[in-house]
Amino acid sequence: MILHMPGTAPALLSKTALADRADTLLPEYREIIGSIPPEAGFGGIWESEMLLFYAAAKPYAPKQILESGRARGKSTLILALCFPESRIVSVEYDRQSENAAAAEAKLKPCSNVELLYGDSRQVLPERLQASDAVLIDGPKDFRALKLALDLLRTGKPCAVFVHDFPPNSPQRKFVDRNWPNAFFGDDPLFQRFQNLDNERDPRPNPQRRYGIFVCLTPRLPSPYWQLRMKLLLGGRS
Ligand SMILES: C[S@@+](CC[C@H](N)C(=O)[O-])C[C@H]1O[C@@H](n2cnc3c(N)ncnc32)[C@H](O)[C@@H]1O
Repeated sequence: MILHMPGTAPALLSKTALADRADTLLPEYREIIGSIPPEAGFGGIWESEMLLFYAAAKPYAPKQILESGRARGKSTLILALCFPESRIVSVEYDRQSENAAAAEAKLKPCSNVELLYGDSRQVLPERLQASDAVLIDGPKDFRALKLALDLLRTGKPCAVFVHDFPPNSPQRKFVDRNWPNAFFGDDPLFQRFQNLDNERDPRPNPQRRYGIFVCLTPRLPSPYWQLRMKLLLGGRS
């Protein structure tokens, strides 16, 4: 079991530890994603961003990984291949989109993946187990933060990554003000890993947009009710 003091970032999840581990894991990660046909142009989380999730969760050897927001299943497939010993529970809201069928076809060979449809704000709290790693890429913004907060208050997750925290966004400002141990995927420490995306994106002059993760470490920085109240008030404080 990996222990850490309440209110402090566990050493394993500091941004420098994460960058060092990503360096070490890069060769094996590159090999794993090399078996996945590139699908640039359809959106989804970039490979360099998924490397950070891999490096964050791997030392915890999570039995289960919860994913919220699957779309075409690009991130789901990376999780399935990077964590073959983990159960990947992936929840998608939109069953009707053509993305749903594309993801089902893509993930059919992956016996460690469970594909669910529904609102993850309801499903994830029901499925959360001790030491799960969590990846949220829909819902977005404050809805995603509220979901992360509801999961973290249980003390169960080993790490929660939430996508789409660009600079100056209200959700990022909220984390900057209230979550001192959180860090973001656009930290200069992580920029070197974006070479991976050049390799995976065959388009000439791609207009690549990074959603940018926030990594929320296991312990809440202040009492749940305080953070919840601030979110209820629109995240302005
Ligand atoms: C950006 S896409 C996910 C891309 C995917 N993670 C990837 O990297 O390939 C966001 C997805 O989240 C889904 N979504 C939005 N709100 C949701 C919710 N409350 N529960 C589950 N899925 C949700 C949307 O339907 C959409 O398919």
